[in-house]
Amino acid sequence: KKINVILTGGVGSRLWPLSRKSRPKQYLPIFEGETLFQKTAKRNAEFCDNVLVVGNCENFELSRKDLADSGISEYSEIIEACPRNTAAAIAFAAFAVQPEDILFVTPSDHLIESGKDYKKAIERAVHLASQGSIVTFGLKPRKPETGFGYIEADGEEVKSFREKPNKETAEGFIKSGNFYWNSGMFCFKAGVFLEELKSFEPEVFEKSKTTFEQAGKGFLDKSLSLEIPSISVDYAVMERTRRIKVVPSEFDWSDMGSFESIYDFFKKQGHPIDSKGNMVIGTEVHTEFTGLKNTIFVHTSDAILVLKKDNAQDVKKVYERLEREK
Ligand code: GDD
Ligand code: MG
Repeated sequence: KKINVILTGGVGSRLWPLSRKSRPKQYLPIFEGETLFQKTAKRNAEFCDNVLVVGNCENFELSRKDLADSGISEYSEIIEACPRNTAAAIAFAAFAVQPEDILFVTPSDHLIESGKDYKKAIERAVHLASQGSIVTFGLKPRKPETGFGYIEADGEEVKSFREKPNKETAEGFIKSGNFYWNSGMFCFKAGVFLEELKSFEPEVFEKSKTTFEQAGKGFLDKSLSLEIPSISVDYAVMERTRRIKVVPSEFDWSDMGSFESIYDFFKKQGHPIDSKGNMVIGTEVHTEFTGLKNTIFVHTSDAILVLKKDNAQDVKKVYERLEREK
């Protein structure tokens, strides 16, 4: 069986105040009237026999609503008591299925064009996964982004996987020309993933297993979960496994992680923007900018954020400070 595992754990701190704990970015219906979560579920339905959502207890109702609105009535869910990062989230999914089942793991907060290039990439990935590989999808890097993983490749062979390099290293990767961005989607047999996790991160493996086995009706226990080391799948498995392969891919992909990507998307969609590149997001209130350029004005019912587009990554710091001050 092929199962689309949808990961939906993040809070989207770089999109505050649009994205909130109570409604993280993947549940905002601002992408052609749909949410990114909905788009993800719909896009992958044609390639998979089943959907398994791994998400947080704070927002599983939002996932359920999105699935219902997308006409997807059959799905399974694993509900985390607290986020333990992606290695554990994927391990739960792998424990929930048969070792031979193929998991197509996807984040829920990406905007992807589902055309023939997407189909081609997935079909190739499923083929490689059925032969025992752990498959990543490589995209041509557009800039030395430091928030992504990089895959050094020769065809489908992976020479190295480097998660979140610093700026200088990323620039070097781009110059060398043999590197792809890691899309954040993965495809593998559940059993293969668990073998690798067990050998590299035995503690994550054992503690996720116990947590999964003790769950009641898909709800994981909090104190057991808190014992699981929090590490991303990229560091835990992808940087280390020798079973890794990459499918060089051509589909349009963007991680809607920051206001810079939202700005670019909205601009393409014809969202109003003035002659100096200023944009208002979230409100219908008439707004004027004087003496400012490339400014994003985010207005929600209880908060306003004004930022320079180039500083889009810094919003995370604002969010973290507000969390500390709470
Ligand atoms: N269920 C669950 N539980 N989901 C989680 C958790 C968790 O504890 N933590 C993160 N997720 C979800 C996020 O909601 C997102 O959909 C996905 O897993 C990936 O997590 P991110 O936190 O967004 O990862 P990242 O963006 O820093 O990096 C990953 O994605 C990049 C591409 O967007 C890596 O795979 C990079 O290598 C990759 O380039
Ligand atoms: Mg991300």
